[in-house]
Amino acid sequence: MARPATIHVCSACGHVEAKWHGQCPGCGEWNTLTEERAPARVTGAAAGSRAARAAAPRGPGGTPQRLRDVHADRTPRLLTGIGELDRLLGGGIVPGSLVLIGGSPGIGKSTLTTMALGLLQGSGRRTLYVSGEESPAQIRLRAERLEAGSAPGALDVPVLAETDLDAVLATLEAEQPEVCVIDSVQTLAAGDLSGAPGTVGQVREVATRVMEVAKRTGTAVLLVGHVTKDGALAGPRVLEHLVDCVLQFEGERERTYRTLRALKNRFGSTNDVGVFEMRDGGLVEVLDASARFVGEATRAPGSVVLAAMEGSRPLLVEVQALVSPSELVPPRRVVNGIDRNRLALVLAVLARHAGVGTGTADVFVNVVGGVRVDEPGADLAVALAVAGAARGVVLGGEDSPTPVAAFGEIGLTGELRSVAHHDRRREEAEKFGLAQIISPESAPTLREALRAGAVGRRVHAAA
Ligand SMILES: Nc1ncnc2c1ncn2[C@@H]1O[C@H](COP(=O)(O)OP(=O)(O)OP(=O)(O)O)[C@@H](O)[C@H]1O
Ligand SMILES: [Mg+2]
Repeated sequence: MARPATIHVCSACGHVEAKWHGQCPGCGEWNTLTEERAPARVTGAAAGSRAARAAAPRGPGGTPQRLRDVHADRTPRLLTGIGELDRLLGGGIVPGSLVLIGGSPGIGKSTLTTMALGLLQGSGRRTLYVSGEESPAQIRLRAERLEAGSAPGALDVPVLAETDLDAVLATLEAEQPEVCVIDSVQTLAAGDLSGAPGTVGQVREVATRVMEVAKRTGTAVLLVGHVTKDGALAGPRVLEHLVDCVLQFEGERERTYRTLRALKNRFGSTNDVGVFEMRDGGLVEVLDASARFVGEATRAPGSVVLAAMEGSRPLLVEVQALVSPSELVPPRRVVNGIDRNRLALVLAVLARHAGVGTGTADVFVNVVGGVRVDEPGADLAVALAVAGAARGVVLGGEDSPTPVAAFGEIGLTGELRSVAHHDRRREEAEKFGLAQIISPESAPTLREALRAGAVGRRVHAAA
């Protein structure tokens, strides 16, 4: 058989070449060209899959159909029984859909997907777990732990340890499971493409062909994908437009808290987040995350409680800062859980408009529990934590009985700007007994917010 025509695509810029080059002629990056199958059909993979998605037979010669006349099955969704996961998916798994679960190594992707399959299998669904990474024995060890814990049924899940795409697809066709997990998309490879598993071409090919089978057989597929910390690795990024849902698993491996976030969802909203805790028996949903984080919050200089919004839910998290004299030029700015550029902005405004200079100090900011807050509403909490740390002052004063809560965006002129859902953030803080809440509604400028938190100039001068 003649080898199918292939092209070479740059994983950085998408530039296409007929032959392989060491350096991409498009963007100048080195070693980014990978081989993939040339689009055989005129309209390529996307059109093929879109057409396949419509359950109704197409009119002859591609005659457009009125949407009213399109037949759409209302197949009930498959509930995994993991409340947070079902909620993120918009009410369970849609049959025939493709869900990408991305996350850094060791975060718990295999654990979560094994649990989901175990629970589904336990409730009488046909499932299949395809692993290209671990041996059946390794998977069994994890399943034993989960069976004893939160996912009875985990040991009944059929597994297939396989890395050859054709073999996996043949099994899918033969077994026709209702839900299948492929762990991971980067370990499968199509034999007729020369690229190594995990290259852009291979990953795209694997996902496209799995999708064709999934849509045809009605199998819902959960694709596991690795991403590096900065999300850069070839793979999941190129799949985002292809799949129906993208769930991102975040958190730090060493910490017990994990958040699962919907980045894209064709069947539900995307602004929701689930919080999990990694335990012996598997991942456990944390329904009272705010209570935990507030309960663990310290009462020391440099600590403040941020009333954040995680999607549609308010979440209280502790933000800590450490400011210490530095020998380095430029000094260190280390962040965990917030955006580094956002810290730069906050430090600049603190120095320029609130008299808190940190130009010769290392600044560390950490959102406790491994939670990530990517919203401008975190600015004020970061600023208060840094100011408290810089001045060695407990926010709200030494004798205030509860931690101070804060939220709000900081503008470049030192003003505080309202953020979405300020009422719900306030309610959440009040619900957990935080007496003092500093926000744009109570303080129009950063300077006044610092004064309200007792870390303003006057306190400093008096100390
Ligand atoms: N006995 C145990 N008790 C508690 N936690 C455990 C136990 N064994 C493993 N873990 C946790 O599970 C995590 C690994 O989970 P899992 O294998 O699901 O991650 P993953 O995202 O699939 O990783 P990989 O990228 O290696 O496939 C480890 O980081 C560890 O914290
Ligand atoms: Mg894994």
